[in-house]
Amino acid sequence: MITAGRIVRLAERDRAKVQFLLDGEMRGALAGDTVLTAMLASGVALRKSEFGPEPRAGLCLMGACQDCWVWQEEGSRLRACTTLIVDGMRLCTTLPENWP
Ligand code: FES
Repeated sequence: MITAGRIVRLAERDRAKVQFLLDGEMRGALAGDTVLTAMLASGVALRKSEFGPEPRAGLCLMGACQDCWVWQEEGSRLRACTTLIVDGMRLCTTLPENWP
C-alpha cells in the first residue's frame, strides 16, 4: 500500500477508514473522500494522460473539466472529483480490457 500521496491530510483524519482497489492494488481512504481525494492521498497521480507521458491529477476538482474520468472494474465510468469513495470499490485508471 502506498502511504505517501500527492495530497496530505491536514485535518479530519479521524473519519472511518475505507479500502478500495485501484488497478489491482489495495489502497486506503477515509469515508467521505471523493474518489479523486482517495486516489491522490494514497498515490501520486490520478492516471496517465492519453495524449502524452505526463500523469494527470484532475484539473478543476468540481466536475467541470472532464479530466478525472476513471472506470470501475465492471466497465462503468465515473468522474473521480464528484464521486464519493465506497468501501470495496474496484477502480481502474484505464478502460478494463475485458470490457466489450
Ligand atoms: S477534475 Fe475536473 S471534472 Fe473532475
